[in-house]
Amino acid sequence: MNTAVTPAGDKPMLQLLNVESAYGPIKAIRGVSLKVRQGEIATVLGSNGAGKTTILKTISGIIDPRKGSIEFKGEAITAQDPALIVRRGLVHVPEGREVFPLLSVRDNLLMGAYTRQDRDGVARDIEAAYTYFPILKERSAQDAGLLSGGQQQMLAISRALMANPDLILLDEPSLGLSPKLTKEIFEIVVRINRERGTTILLVEQNANMALNASDYGYVLENGRIVMEDTCERLREKEDIKEFYLGMKEEGVRGERRWKKKKTWR
Ligand SMILES: Nc1ncnc2c1ncn2[C@@H]1O[C@H](COP(=O)(O)OP(=O)(O)OP(=O)(O)O)[C@@H](O)[C@H]1O
Ligand SMILES: [Mg+2]
Repeated sequence: MNTAVTPAGDKPMLQLLNVESAYGPIKAIRGVSLKVRQGEIATVLGSNGAGKTTILKTISGIIDPRKGSIEFKGEAITAQDPALIVRRGLVHVPEGREVFPLLSVRDNLLMGAYTRQDRDGVARDIEAAYTYFPILKERSAQDAGLLSGGQQQMLAISRALMANPDLILLDEPSLGLSPKLTKEIFEIVVRINRERGTTILLVEQNANMALNASDYGYVLENGRIVMEDTCERLREKEDIKEFYLGMKEEGVRGERRWKKKKTWR
């Protein structure tokens, strides 16, 4: 676990204040406030439909919030054009990875670097991605659609790195992966954070993996943050242990456990 502590009073890299987003009449997140400090891995835990993906889509500009504000590196990015937000250094790895299936692995990586002019830097970052995920080097000329789910997740994370971002939003990297692959991917995510200093906001249903990999965590139920603390302390809390790590049927605020298998295409 990262023990690096940001000095008190430091401005967070990302700050959400009272953010509310809806799909038509359905309020998906209701007054969410959270902070991500520079250099940390922060996580939002929540079960199916809690609003995790909606938070990330609202940050990256895919959904415009009804209320509230979002600040990144000290500047407002609320409801900005997603492409501009990427240019500012904030990249979103969506749920279900969404690689370009008919492009090669290498061309997928190059697509991630479309905002960059520094060819040498791009070449270096492709090599760096291949160092994190050697299988992608072996498969570099193959169509991305032929990769396994785990390899596509690796590619989606690597493609995000190609923008050389300050902050990566990661939506359920464990989705559909075996425990072994999930562990491998989380280890690399932690390495990316430590070695490149990339700040990460990760949302997960897999509380066990997320709490072990992250520094600070939020618990989301029914579109609201109901608890926040260091992951070290969250791991010790009975509610978290019982509901997210164990067998209890009700969450912190009476949220029922509801496991649903998601599939992609
Ligand atoms: N496109 C949509 N149209 C209408 N309602 C939506 C849409 N997307 C999500 N919702 C609803 O918004 C709420 C939050 O959904 P969201 O996808 O953010 O949850 P989540 O925490 O990411 O869930 P999961 O773990 O299943 O991915 C849910 O009630 C969901 O049904
Ligand atoms: Mg989701």
